[in-house]
Amino acid sequence: MGLVTTTEMFQKAYNGGYAIGAFNVNNMEIVQGITEAAGELNSPVILQVSKGARAYANHTYLVKLVEAAIIENPDIPIALHLDHGDSFELCKSCIDGGFTSVMIDASSKPFDENIELTKKVVEYAHAHGVVVEAELGTLAGVEDEVCVEAGKEMYTRPEEVEEFVSRTGCDSLAIAIGTSHGAYKFKPGTKPQLRFDVLEECTKRLPGFPIVLHGSSSVPQEFVEMVNQYGGNMPGAIGVPEEQLRHAAELSVCKINIDSDIRLAMTGNIRKYFAEHPDHFDPRQYLKPARQSVKDMVAHKIINVLGSAGKAADMTK
Ligand code: G3H
Ligand code: 13P
Ligand code: ZN
Repeated sequence: MGLVTTTEMFQKAYNGGYAIGAFNVNNMEIVQGITEAAGELNSPVILQVSKGARAYANHTYLVKLVEAAIIENPDIPIALHLDHGDSFELCKSCIDGGFTSVMIDASSKPFDENIELTKKVVEYAHAHGVVVEAELGTLAGVEDEVCVEAGKEMYTRPEEVEEFVSRTGCDSLAIAIGTSHGAYKFKPGTKPQLRFDVLEECTKRLPGFPIVLHGSSSVPQEFVEMVNQYGGNMPGAIGVPEEQLRHAAELSVCKINIDSDIRLAMTGNIRKYFAEHPDHFDPRQYLKPARQSVKDMVAHKIINVLGSAGKAADMTK
């Protein structure tokens, strides 16, 4: 099926009450782990690249790794997406360089400036057959260089979404309903709860339109404990309960972004490997269980959170 935009994926996900997983890729093992899981479960998948990933691994290496994954998994649709693009130039470079989807994240700017920049990216992207995700509302935690203090997050204001989407022409919209980036999303002792009232109000105003959730890792305690048991120190790491994400996927949420859970699983397994094999120094040995943990994590998400297993069969060949 190869490299596709997210248009058909989102339409089918919206109508089918499931979501597509968007997983961040930074190296070969992560690309392999994600796409092997998606391939075996016959699930559509979005591979996303942040500005930081591009700086770390280089644009060409990442695109070529994704091309390799497409050759190895010919039966599933794969979209290549820029995560948190912060300028027109960065979006243009990814559009010109083979991405099928870009995010312009101007959510920290005033409403009219967000619209102006998003619209400029949309015009260029659409002229090149590429789709655009935009963001309205700011998540708590760290969004690349944007840092929002926990408790001061700005939930998306539903009364703004129709004007934003119609004036920008964006293809999907990331909204803030209480998720946040990283491994420390909620204070220990508080009840993690997404604002489904905000999501439902946005959905009413944008019927049929794909909504995106960032910051959707669940921070499984099994891996926090593994990290801490083998020399790490991550006290109070808490994520979004998986049942709440599953519910969001049944509603208008068509794309769920997961990165921290993959980092956590890899780190836990690498720490464990080193602790159990202090004399080993071959990267292939300790990266093997790390890659397997990415695959297991993505398979778990596809089955238990996203509901996208088997859905590649519904896509246009
Ligand atoms: O939301 C951001 C993603 O987790 C990517 O993080 O900027 O460290 O690559 P990064
Ligand atoms: P997490 O940090 O919750 O995995 O969120 C990832 C994300 O939103 C990437 O854009
Ligand atoms: Zn994000």
